[in-house]
Amino acid sequence: MASREQFSSRTGFVMAAAGSAIGLGNIWGFPTQTASNGGAAFVLVYLLMAFCLAYPALMAELIIGRHARANIVTALRYIAPNKATRWLGTFVGGCGVVVASLILSFYTIVAGWMLAYLGQSITGLLSWQSASDWLVTFSFPRNLATGGLFMILTIAIVGKGVSGGIEKWSTRLMPMLLAIMVLLIVYVMTQPGAMAGLRLYLLPDLSHLEPSLIVDALGQAFFSLSLGVGTMLVYGSYLSEKENLPSLGATVTLVDSGVAFIAGLLILPAIYVAQAHGADIFDAQGNLYAGPNLIFQVLPALFDSMGTIGLGVALAFFTLMSIAALTSSISMLEVPVSLAAEETDLGRPKATLLIGGLVFVVSVLIMLNFDTLFDFVITLTTVYSQPILGLMLCIFVGWIWHRDNLLKEIKAGHPEIEGTWFWRIWPFYVKAFCPVLILAIVIPSFT
Ligand code: PHE
Repeated sequence: MASREQFSSRTGFVMAAAGSAIGLGNIWGFPTQTASNGGAAFVLVYLLMAFCLAYPALMAELIIGRHARANIVTALRYIAPNKATRWLGTFVGGCGVVVASLILSFYTIVAGWMLAYLGQSITGLLSWQSASDWLVTFSFPRNLATGGLFMILTIAIVGKGVSGGIEKWSTRLMPMLLAIMVLLIVYVMTQPGAMAGLRLYLLPDLSHLEPSLIVDALGQAFFSLSLGVGTMLVYGSYLSEKENLPSLGATVTLVDSGVAFIAGLLILPAIYVAQAHGADIFDAQGNLYAGPNLIFQVLPALFDSMGTIGLGVALAFFTLMSIAALTSSISMLEVPVSLAAEETDLGRPKATLLIGGLVFVVSVLIMLNFDTLFDFVITLTTVYSQPILGLMLCIFVGWIWHRDNLLKEIKAGHPEIEGTWFWRIWPFYVKAFCPVLILAIVIPSFT
């Protein structure tokens, strides 16, 4: 095998892994779910899930990836000690590859909408009315064009490989994203109505604590940290032996939850600011409009009400969304591409084009059957598949992989780890605690 690529620095890895984690899930999914689930109570449960279940599962992926230095399928087969478990590795890894590709297929559509609104903020500035209308009106040709453009960008970056593509672009794009977000928050906070949104976001009403809220929070935490499908596993496989994995994983978890939290500070107040400007934010039953369309209904109304400045703010916001989506979509495509590039003779550029094209065909099928497939694919992949595959990865680490090898791998890059709580708690925690808890949360939601 040709010598394997690596991230060129610790910062490069953190940017790429945070870039994968921070995406539409943070800036679109998290605030929308928070609004649908009654505000601050959801935020609390989400943070609990992120640190108590998602972080340990993230560590499982990083550790397997760095040890095996391969894509998810090859890696699980590599740590499996016998034929039956190798077969299980192929199966779980294969499911991961399929789920990552399915996530990319719907993600491409939503990211395309972000590009559409970004385009509209430009055509709006130029007063091109019919182009603007076309861009923001839901239609198959619009979805096809903007989703297609997004897929081309994703393929272009992944085709260039790890350090020259993924790392380079994540390192450029992530700081830009944070800067745009902070500027927007500062603006929104000075507007009338912002405080009502802030109150909903920060003051928990515990009467909302229902079982469905807990499954939603778990799915959201796994989605947000890109878990279960081998993304973090393959990013871990490009990490050097010298890196301290528990601290890198903790950094990524903190940054990801931090950005989700900050995105909430932007979106929830923005909803109420939009209301103060005359937008309709409650449905007939008096509930907050909170479906996936939330930001496409409420925010454009907010930007409109701002006059000409609004066009600039819209441009900034939708640029932010598109960047966040792109640094995540490249990590999804990397999952099947790393498998094809490592296990076939196709070579990375060809494999990327081929798989990106195939995933786009699935996107087009979803676009054509939007009402039946869109929500279905999202629920299937993010609410069920990701936590269950995450659980399987915990089982691989806790039960299948030889304990001595596991401990050796954790020790690499962090020789003094034996004195830490991580060493004492984590191996048992992923072995027993995580699987049981994930099952306890997911199973009741089937009934
Ligand atoms: N974490 C990404 C987000 O929040 C989504 C993602 C899921 C990325 C799975 C990679 C794998 O938008």
